[in-house]
Amino acid sequence: MPKLRLREAGPALLFMVVLLTLTACGDTVYPNTTFTQFTDLNTTILSLWDRLLFWGTIVFVVVEAALIITIIRYRKRPGGPAAKQIHGNALLEITWTAIPAIILVLIAVPTVKAIFETQAPAPAGALRVEVIGHQWWWEFRYPELGIVTANELYVPVGRTVSFEMTSKDVIHSFWFPAMGGKRDLMANRTNYMWYTPNADLGTQAWNGFCTEYCGESHANMRIRLYTVQPDEFESWAKHQASPAVFNPLAAAAVLAASNTALTRAVDSTAQPSAGYVFPAERLPAHVVPQTPIPAGLDYDDALLAQGDPTRGATQSFMLGGCIGCHAINGIPGAVSAIGPDLTHVASRHTIASGLFKFDGPTLARWIKNARHMKPGSIMNTIGRGEYDPIMKMTVTAGLDDRQIADVVAYLMSLK
Ligand code: CUA
Repeated sequence: MPKLRLREAGPALLFMVVLLTLTACGDTVYPNTTFTQFTDLNTTILSLWDRLLFWGTIVFVVVEAALIITIIRYRKRPGGPAAKQIHGNALLEITWTAIPAIILVLIAVPTVKAIFETQAPAPAGALRVEVIGHQWWWEFRYPELGIVTANELYVPVGRTVSFEMTSKDVIHSFWFPAMGGKRDLMANRTNYMWYTPNADLGTQAWNGFCTEYCGESHANMRIRLYTVQPDEFESWAKHQASPAVFNPLAAAAVLAASNTALTRAVDSTAQPSAGYVFPAERLPAHVVPQTPIPAGLDYDDALLAQGDPTRGATQSFMLGGCIGCHAINGIPGAVSAIGPDLTHVASRHTIASGLFKFDGPTLARWIKNARHMKPGSIMNTIGRGEYDPIMKMTVTAGLDDRQIADVVAYLMSLK
């Protein structure tokens, strides 16, 4: 048998070293990795994974080595002796039954323990969050805090959060890879999951996904999680629970700033009472949506500077039919829960379930023709003269670009 030379084995060894180095890289390279210990749930899952990998590797190496040695050493040779004929070997059989049995016990005991631990009811004092799946967005309700929001979730570090999950339509599945496992959202039943972001986790932003195919825009059903400090959470929660106060002066201040200021940067001066919002400048690149606006959707952004929030609130919001689907706490009649609650919509960083950045130009195009931007969206095409790809007709009523600018100005004031 020819000897294996180092020169031949070199590329394979190099490949293995590169692979191992990549595997050892941290979460900045793979921000959506599940191999984290950021919560109690992921820590438990990771320890089971490590254990399985450890025993699995030993079994693999021993079995493959025995196999290869046997194949080479006992292969048929010309003129070799006939194989020794035996009948059974009690010691060998007991050994190869006992060793796997012991390994299985070593795996099964912690696994069953972890199942019971993680499936138990959430510990007392957990923060309750109702997660409701919709085609294709997420509704979040904090029943004890009186908050209804969408697509962006805030939780304080160091406190257990208990998710109660249902669906308004088909099966969805809720997943923040860095935090914990997946769980399905189903109509007519409630699924539960809880975990505790580590107290030392810091104020950070995370990606989440729908991970059960749920139709045309399944891939566009994304979520964000902000793990924040307890005082930041309290400030956020207090403000989110408050009704929308339409303040023409505050809205005018937003508009008086430059056009770029429309992109939600100036809220602290415009409305001093606003609560905590995860700072936009601290969003890591992988959390900021990169989706380009599809071609063929024209809007003159110069109109946004002329948008009138008062007109937006009192006329266009009603004319455009927005009130038929969206609730705004504090606006009489705006109570529908078909679409996301817009009470503090301008405190979010994304629209369309995490698909696009939240800013004036994107919002205007979204209102104009949501279905052009997100296939299958339940939100009607509102722009006058736009082609509605689901109704397969051109919109003749609806809002013109100037009226859309008014609605944008109003929504941008809902900090
Ligand atoms: Cu919802 Cu996939």
